[in-house]
Amino acid sequence: MDPAPELLFYVNGRKVTERNVDPEITLLPYLRKKLRLTGTKYGCGGGGCGACTVMISRYNPTTKKIRHYPANACLIPICSLYGAAVTTVEGIGSTKTRIHPVQERIVKCHGTQCGFCTPGMVMSIYTLLRNHPEPTLDQFTDALGGNLCRCTGYRPIIDACKTFCKSSGYCQSKESGICCLDQGINGLPEFEEGNKTSPKLFSEEEFLPLDPTQELIFPPELMIMAKKQPQRTKVFSGDRMTWISPVTLKELLEAKFKYPQAPVVMGNTSVGPEVKFKGVFHPVIISPDGIEELNVVNHENNELTLGAGLSLAQVKNILADVVQKLPEEKTQIYRALLKHLGTLAGSQIRSMASLGGHIISRHLDSDLNPLLAVGNCTLNLLSKEGERQIPLNEQFLSKCPSADLKPQEILISVNIPYSRKWEFVSAFRQAQRQQNALAIVNSGMRVFFGEGDGIVRELSIFYGGVGATTICAKNSCQKLIGRPWDEEMLDTACRLVLDEVLLPGSAPGGKVEFKRTLIISFLFKFYLEVSQILKRMDPVHYPSLADKYESALEDLHSGHHWSTIEYQNVDPKQLPQDPIGHPIVHLSGMKHATGEAIYCDDMPAVDRELFLTFVTSSRAHAKIVSIDLSEALNLPGVVDIVTAEHLSGVNSFCLFSKPEKFLATDKVFCVGQLVCAVIADSEVQAKRAAKRVKIVYQDLEPLILTIEEAIQHNSFFKPERKLEYGNVDEAFKVVDQILEGEIYMGGQEHFYMETQSMLVVPKGEDQEMDVYVSTQFPRYIQDIVASTLKLPANKVMCHVRRVGGAFGGKVIKTGIMAAVTAFAANKHGRAVRCILERGEDMLITGGRHPYLGRYKAGFMNDGRILALDMEHYTNGGITLDESLLVIEMGILKMDNAYKFPNLRCRAWVCRTNLPSNTAFRGFGFPQAGLITESCITEVAGKCGLSPEKVRMINMYKEIDQTPYKQEINAKNLIQCWRECMAMSSYSLRKAAVEKFNTENYWKKKGLAMVPVKFPVGLGSVAAGQAAALVHIYLDGSVLVTHGGIEMGQGVHTKMIQVASRELRMPMSNIHLRGTSTETVPNTNISGGSVVADLNGLAVKDACQTLLKRLEPIISKNPQGTWKNWAQTAFDESISLSAIGYFRGYESDMNWEKGEGHPFEYSVYGAACSEVEIDCLTGDHKNLRTDIVMDVGCSINPALDIGQIEGAFIQGMGLYTIEELDYSPQGVLYTRGPNQYKIPAICDIPTELHISLLPPSQNSNTLYSSKGLGESGVFLGCSVFFALHDAVSAAREERGLTGPVRLSSPLTPEKIRMACEDKLTKMIPRDEPGSYVPWNVPI
Ligand SMILES: Cc1cc2nc3c(=O)[nH]c(=O)nc-3n(C[C@H](O)[C@H](O)[C@H](O)COP(=O)(O)OP(=O)(O)OC[C@H]3O[C@@H](n4cnc5c(N)ncnc54)[C@H](O)[C@@H]3O)c2cc1C
Ligand code: FES
Ligand code: FES
Repeated sequence: MDPAPELLFYVNGRKVTERNVDPEITLLPYLRKKLRLTGTKYGCGGGGCGACTVMISRYNPTTKKIRHYPANACLIPICSLYGAAVTTVEGIGSTKTRIHPVQERIVKCHGTQCGFCTPGMVMSIYTLLRNHPEPTLDQFTDALGGNLCRCTGYRPIIDACKTFCKSSGYCQSKESGICCLDQGINGLPEFEEGNKTSPKLFSEEEFLPLDPTQELIFPPELMIMAKKQPQRTKVFSGDRMTWISPVTLKELLEAKFKYPQAPVVMGNTSVGPEVKFKGVFHPVIISPDGIEELNVVNHENNELTLGAGLSLAQVKNILADVVQKLPEEKTQIYRALLKHLGTLAGSQIRSMASLGGHIISRHLDSDLNPLLAVGNCTLNLLSKEGERQIPLNEQFLSKCPSADLKPQEILISVNIPYSRKWEFVSAFRQAQRQQNALAIVNSGMRVFFGEGDGIVRELSIFYGGVGATTICAKNSCQKLIGRPWDEEMLDTACRLVLDEVLLPGSAPGGKVEFKRTLIISFLFKFYLEVSQILKRMDPVHYPSLADKYESALEDLHSGHHWSTIEYQNVDPKQLPQDPIGHPIVHLSGMKHATGEAIYCDDMPAVDRELFLTFVTSSRAHAKIVSIDLSEALNLPGVVDIVTAEHLSGVNSFCLFSKPEKFLATDKVFCVGQLVCAVIADSEVQAKRAAKRVKIVYQDLEPLILTIEEAIQHNSFFKPERKLEYGNVDEAFKVVDQILEGEIYMGGQEHFYMETQSMLVVPKGEDQEMDVYVSTQFPRYIQDIVASTLKLPANKVMCHVRRVGGAFGGKVIKTGIMAAVTAFAANKHGRAVRCILERGEDMLITGGRHPYLGRYKAGFMNDGRILALDMEHYTNGGITLDESLLVIEMGILKMDNAYKFPNLRCRAWVCRTNLPSNTAFRGFGFPQAGLITESCITEVAGKCGLSPEKVRMINMYKEIDQTPYKQEINAKNLIQCWRECMAMSSYSLRKAAVEKFNTENYWKKKGLAMVPVKFPVGLGSVAAGQAAALVHIYLDGSVLVTHGGIEMGQGVHTKMIQVASRELRMPMSNIHLRGTSTETVPNTNISGGSVVADLNGLAVKDACQTLLKRLEPIISKNPQGTWKNWAQTAFDESISLSAIGYFRGYESDMNWEKGEGHPFEYSVYGAACSEVEIDCLTGDHKNLRTDIVMDVGCSINPALDIGQIEGAFIQGMGLYTIEELDYSPQGVLYTRGPNQYKIPAICDIPTELHISLLPPSQNSNTLYSSKGLGESGVFLGCSVFFALHDAVSAAREERGLTGPVRLSSPLTPEKIRMACEDKLTKMIPRDEPGSYVPWNVPI
């Protein structure tokens, strides 16, 4: 052994050596803190988001090949990198030297908004291109499956990828010679070409070519090192952990003999998350390095032997090759494995995780173990005592000691037998999301028949996700041996399996009835699959399946992604240098893509900086009996612990109507409430100390978590809100029909990619404080910090360069945390940083309000709704926060696009024991709108009309009046609706969907179209005021500052466009540094879709002031330059600096009278979505979405379209997959991307068509533009209603009458359980109250 070797690896072509490396550290903090390569981002720390993607390259001296693969830096132990080359986003290109084509194209295709995911995206694409210079689009989507983006909706990123495909251009099907556009969408004739122009959002001609010869070479030194044999085991010792890296099998066995309890870390994708999230600690780790025997690939004795050290990505490639070469009958298991390897995690995890690690981990939801088990695989083990083989069977999977590895043993390889003739294997899985999501239930099934007789000779079924480990339905299988493969056997099999695979009502993971249904739905699918093959093999003896049942076996339709974008080009009369109306790329785009954009945590450490971490309540409602800080304070590096006592007198702040408390005093009211803050000299020490703070609680009653519980306990915040129009009670007397219903809608996590981040720096003079924080509201941060420190506001300055996504979630809680952080900084006179981990962030900060909507509608048989009585209940959590404003907006916008002549709507905020819910993109509208649309859908059902027809009948017509008596002109609403109908070929496709549904029993399609009227405005004039400051320097360059925050929406880009138009100066001459209370004071919150509207008017004002001053100078010297004019102005003592101001839109609302003019204008639009569902699993695919929006005159169509589609995808997530799980004690389970699923690249519509209405004039707004930040979220509900349509079709066919009430999110679980059939009838049901469920629906 080499006792104290130097850790040696390369980063971006530079050698890195470490003598005293700490083996506990992973590559991500090493890159960010030690090497100051901050382009690689932290998004989750658990391999689930892809923000930290880097490329790892290794040289194999045996094969003489270099392997490049994508990896999650957050899970790579630093010591595992010996001899490897790491490439980060900084290594492939930079704005200072040369931009890499990947970086260039993702930017120019508008694939970055907040930019926080961009370096990870770039590195995933880059790595794919290193391995495949001309990949297919499928390879790209596969490569990006592990990268999440919360802003863009992925379409522009796919567009960037397409430019690298062999045949790029709009349509990928062109590869096959036929373009989708030539065929018409979905084979249907297309909408008529109007007089619209469809300029491209980017121009491919100007892209840099991809030149593989320009890439960084693999470091020759590492190649020489790898070739130089023999190497010796390396040992790296840290304070608490020793890392042993054996390089030969013998040394590995010796190490394992010496340290039998030490894990053998390969990919670290199982051990790493356990260490990080479950607090598991290993004093010794053994990590084999390049041991050949662990990488064998052998075909012998009718089996394939794969080395345990092969990565899952390598296994996938090997199997793909094998199935090509061997006859189909021999490759049944390999095909099944390949199917699951296609969806297992993302490509980073698949490239890191090893086959051996996967098998040995025995995760309950392992996708491969059920297949390896049914395939009768064997494991080749080795220890110093010798080798042996054990079967990968039920006992092994349940970790039964007699069937398990001995502590000294190593798994060397796995034998996977060839299948035989008459043997069939299938793989099944269903997850919350199609890809990169752990299965809810998965299964491997194998049957072997006697030669041509159809009699079951062997049957093996394993399930994952339904127990503590992979489970075998052994007895059931045994009992079915000797049975013919027919429906009777299937029926018996289902009953037997349900009896054997018992799942108690309180089983961890919940979804119990869904899981029970999946267990037999998979079995049913298997039965059909095998029956179909038997029929193919022997058509005489085996009956054919009815055509309509075959749909059970088909995959959900998926095709090549393609999209069309339509918007009107600028007026040809517009001056050529005027950038307004042009699709200018996000001005920070290149910095996002190169990793040069600086976010809060990318700022270098300040001298003697401290780190702050919060200790939060683990109880939902309890008295704090005692807090013992002693153990935590005694840890080295711990500087202080701030409690409520320290904050006495300043422990709260009032932003809206009620003060919000910072740290808990004597009681806690929710899990995740801030109790105290530990301050230490490093993040690691602060976190360790936080775990040692001992709090004793005494639980209190009542515990109120849900809206229903709040109603029972009469637990509401005051005041309630009400809006009434017409005479509802009278109208109910004259209508043909009345219906009453309700719909429930769950909350949503913001899941901004950059977690809450702040750095407070005392200036050391005059008590000044600089607060750098990722927030949407600098003025509030300044105020709350000043109040906490008892300082005047002029001593506290808040600075925000950019924010990595916010969506409403970086206001109230951010301020509270900043106040506590500032308190600590002030107390110790040292800079303090606080960066939340993803899990903490999700636990502490609330999200979108869950809603319960109750409605009573009175309508005529022709679909006209004459009376509507609505109640909105929202789950506000423990404090009022922004909830009152949310319900107000919910009420004011609940009419959506409809004129309800008689309307009453009341709304309440429920006080519950949950973290306070807060602002979230759309601010009450996505919930209120869904309730209204659900009511309309139900009315349509009662009238026997399509929902679209009832929508149209009730829609506002041209000039009309809203329930709060504000006049609107709905002309553009109707136009959007009509265009969307035409563009989507709604009528033809509706007929096609109906035809599909009659021909397919197990798959159904659904089509739905919804309109949107999204009123924009803030409800008061003062809330809409904005200011800007514009300086012209003597060299003629311009600096613009305004009060808006750049959080991805591109407001700074738009502001420079505005300044450029007003000053008639090229954009390149204008700069914007960020937002600061020092330059523009008393700013308003950045939110509510109006950031560019309001600040743009202020920038315009400032520029016009300057121009007015300079006009005489310019007209005297029209050929002069800005430098000349600025100098002349200076010489003539004319100020070159101006503030601009906008006082806000006229706005008021009188709640007493129920009247007002709260909004300045409305954004109109419509979306039509088509989905397909699998009735057996609840899976769904969004096949196509068409969106038409009225954006007024777009300042920047690329940014505006980015807002529309990004919001749409976020809305789709809200309404279909994003589900928060809480325990009955109020503990949030979903604390990261592995549990909480936001849309990934697999979720976007296969076809997406977006069209903007021709520009329309909007007198009071900036250049007649409209704010588009929020409206698109609601359009995501077109997918919800399309799913609803599909489910209704399934139910109708199954003879289920009456309306189906589906709640949001409409997850696979809810879809499956609503498609009731003989299988759902078979499953056992638990009596409510007979068990404690794992989770409560909130
Ligand atoms: C974000 C994420 C998403 C995921 N998604 C999925 C998914 O969709 N489906 C799915 O099935 N799985 C999924 N997984 C789990 C993943 O498949 C496993 O974590 C992975 O296969 C483990 O392999 P590893 O090499 O990283 O194991 P390690 O973490 O390196 O090791 C795991 C265990 O195996 C032991 N071990 C490893 N090799 C040997 C050996 N040769 N001999 C003896 N013991 C050994 C170690 O001692 C350790 O106990 C996901 C994981 C992550 C982090
Ligand atoms: S930070 Fe590494 S995957 Fe999320
Ligand atoms: S741009 Fe992808 S997360 Fe913001």
